[in-house]
Amino acid sequence: MKLNTVVPWGRSLDEYKMMFDLSESDLKKSILGCGDGPASFNSEVTAAGGHVISIDPLYAFSAEDIQGRIEETHKSIVSQMKQNLQRYVWTQFKDPDDLGRARLEVMRVFLQDFEKGLTEGRYLTEALPSLSFAENQFELCLCSHLLFLFSEQFSLEFHIESIQELLRVGSEVRIFPIMGLNCQISPYLEPVQQHFRERGYSAEVVQVDYEVQRDGNYMLCLKGQEA
Ligand SMILES: C[S@@+](CC[C@H](N)C(=O)[O-])C[C@H]1O[C@@H](n2cnc3c(N)ncnc32)[C@H](O)[C@@H]1O
Repeated sequence: MKLNTVVPWGRSLDEYKMMFDLSESDLKKSILGCGDGPASFNSEVTAAGGHVISIDPLYAFSAEDIQGRIEETHKSIVSQMKQNLQRYVWTQFKDPDDLGRARLEVMRVFLQDFEKGLTEGRYLTEALPSLSFAENQFELCLCSHLLFLFSEQFSLEFHIESIQELLRVGSEVRIFPIMGLNCQISPYLEPVQQHFRERGYSAEVVQVDYEVQRDGNYMLCLKGQEA
């Protein structure tokens, strides 16, 4: 993997709470953050006494390299958002500059925690569709802004294999958003739901309070029968 193919763009604990409808009891669970990248979710939950392991291929790089890539990403994403203002809802953030500032602050918190989190085993260099964890090691797996969002980059097979792997290592999987970068519902949503329902899982779309991509306020929640 090359660092310039990764989009390091991180969200905060408050955003994760809204995207995944996380309750106080959810935050006490053992959580896998899949593709957490430079989000401050792990750092903030750990500081509050919770247990999160984040995996991301990004963690193979040094803090300095990641910081440089964040700065480049910041400029290009803010400028793309300015050209497509109508695709987003500007209530949580006032405008693209406001959103960009919030993201830089989140990523500053991540970078401050990165070395410590590496030594504590909270940031692991792993990548879907294959993870090193034991069966049911986690109570909850969260995947933010990776599956479905990058539907043009990842195939349906990749989505199914990845979700199967997340359901192997965790009893419940929540994925946000269910739309692609083009702000259209991912073409993989229905085949994914059908695939897992045929194998005895529930695969429900749930409305949540987080809406930055217009009409993007939905997550997919998957569970086994017994979960
Ligand atoms: C847009 S960022 C989202 C970061 C974080 N989840 C958030 O919402 O703030 C997407 C992340 O997915 C990671 N990623 C890319 N391919 C991956 C893979 N195969 N397995 C796990 N993570 C991957 C990237 O490195 C990047 O950090």
